[in-house]
Amino acid sequence: MASQDDVFKKLIAHSKEYGFVFPSSEIYDGLGAVYDYGQNGVELKNNIKRYWWDSMILLNENVVGIDAAIFMHPTTWKASGHVDAFNDPLIDNKDSKKRYRADVLIEDLLAKYDEKIDKEIQKAAKRFGDSFDEKQFRETNPRVLENQAKRDEIHARFVKALNDSDLDELKAIIVDYDVVDPISGTKNWTDVRQFNLMFSTEMGSTADGAMKIYLRPETAQGIFVNYLNVQKTGRMKIPFGIAQIGKAFRNEIVARQFIFRMREFEQMEMQFFVRPGEEMKWFEHWKEMRIRWHKALGLGDHKYRFHDHDKLAHYANAATDIEFEMPFGFKEVEGIHSRTDFDLSSHEKFSGKNIKYFDPELNQSYTPYVIETSIGVDRTFLSIMAASYCEEQLEGGDSRVVLKLPPVLAPVKVAILPLVKKDGLPEKAREIMDNLKFDFKCTYDEKDSIGKRYRRQDAIGTPFCITIDHQTLEDDCVTVRHRDNMEQERVKISDLFGIIDQQVNMKNLFRKIVK
Ligand code: GAP
Repeated sequence: MASQDDVFKKLIAHSKEYGFVFPSSEIYDGLGAVYDYGQNGVELKNNIKRYWWDSMILLNENVVGIDAAIFMHPTTWKASGHVDAFNDPLIDNKDSKKRYRADVLIEDLLAKYDEKIDKEIQKAAKRFGDSFDEKQFRETNPRVLENQAKRDEIHARFVKALNDSDLDELKAIIVDYDVVDPISGTKNWTDVRQFNLMFSTEMGSTADGAMKIYLRPETAQGIFVNYLNVQKTGRMKIPFGIAQIGKAFRNEIVARQFIFRMREFEQMEMQFFVRPGEEMKWFEHWKEMRIRWHKALGLGDHKYRFHDHDKLAHYANAATDIEFEMPFGFKEVEGIHSRTDFDLSSHEKFSGKNIKYFDPELNQSYTPYVIETSIGVDRTFLSIMAASYCEEQLEGGDSRVVLKLPPVLAPVKVAILPLVKKDGLPEKAREIMDNLKFDFKCTYDEKDSIGKRYRRQDAIGTPFCITIDHQTLEDDCVTVRHRDNMEQERVKISDLFGIIDQQVNMKNLFRKIVK
């Protein structure tokens, strides 16, 4: 069986070969952690964005959208805390000259202990079969207890070091537990230093006194500074939300794992403004709504889990991540944060403007509290590609690579394939395509054998292939071939819309979310 590492490498190669993701400016050997989306990638990405946008805007009558500029007044980032606190702790290995995030090295160390414990449990579960009692095993097995104790000890030190911003202690953990550089294999580490992740540039000519401005590291601040504009012009009443999709930029220290950690990426964020004191109720509400959004995609409920934060960000009083099982383990795809009134109060202070909300029901003014849902488009893209990529052995020794994408998100929904390039079949095929193309993204292909054409569509995840043959000219029926089970059925042309729509209409997913 191929290792997860191999599968991931194949996925990256496949993404490039089939026009999903290319390294940025590849003819110049690329640019670290920056990627371009190709002809199929952009369709998948747009579908993900539409799924998120419509789930926010259509399903919630009290959520509206905006599209704020990437450049913002520099004081925004002072007020938000990013200038002073948006740092990662970095450490270098003196032998390999590679740079790492100290917190990530320690998280990897914790994950190693988790793996050791899981292995013991799996071995025992196999040995004892149905009579295996995991709880009892965890509480009594000496090796599990020893590893758990070590893990707890490291974890406690780690959380304290993060909360105290104690960089020396972060280094001490790395040294005490013999963390080695994966490349050089040595423990020759530098001290841990803070590194600000924001990119900056200058606006205006230097003669006029250029202003240092930042490329936004999150889209959220564009929502905060516009919250009162939207509230007033939209006559919004608390609770209400503002959604936004847009680019964000971070000068990540360690950019790895393909599009998982990028320096330019896209976020889909929603800030939900609530009465102070009601934030925990809404935090739970949005946790539930967001996990339903993910699970409705049908990639497997077991691939998701919540992970509460060890260290709360400077603005939060509760925070959890939705993690997805990537080929390199469970990783954050979305963050849900209770941001208190931190941002609005801070903008009020720095701008000197009153941005309080007058609540007519309470007959009082207050600064709203905020629940934020923040999901990365690119990480969602990666999670969907990873869960959909399949290599299958077929009968007769043949094999295929198929992307079992959720049909709703597939870049191309329908491939129209005349069996041969003559006898009026292309004309009939074009006629069918002309009828379907207003509703579904279709592609037309008449080159090569039908088997090869099916494989090409499998590789980009097209859920339906429609073959037009000589019989079609007589009975107005076509063969529909289904991507996942490769089953074929003969259907009337007039039934095509219904068959396709039933699988690719987003309504089906939305119904699962609102249940
Ligand atoms: N406004 C809150 C915020 O930005 P975050 O946890 O830093 O929170 C939210 O980011 C989401 O943005 C993450 O869950 C992830 O999906 C995505 N994201 C963050 N940094 C990223 C990066 N360097 N590359 C790709 N996606 C990233």
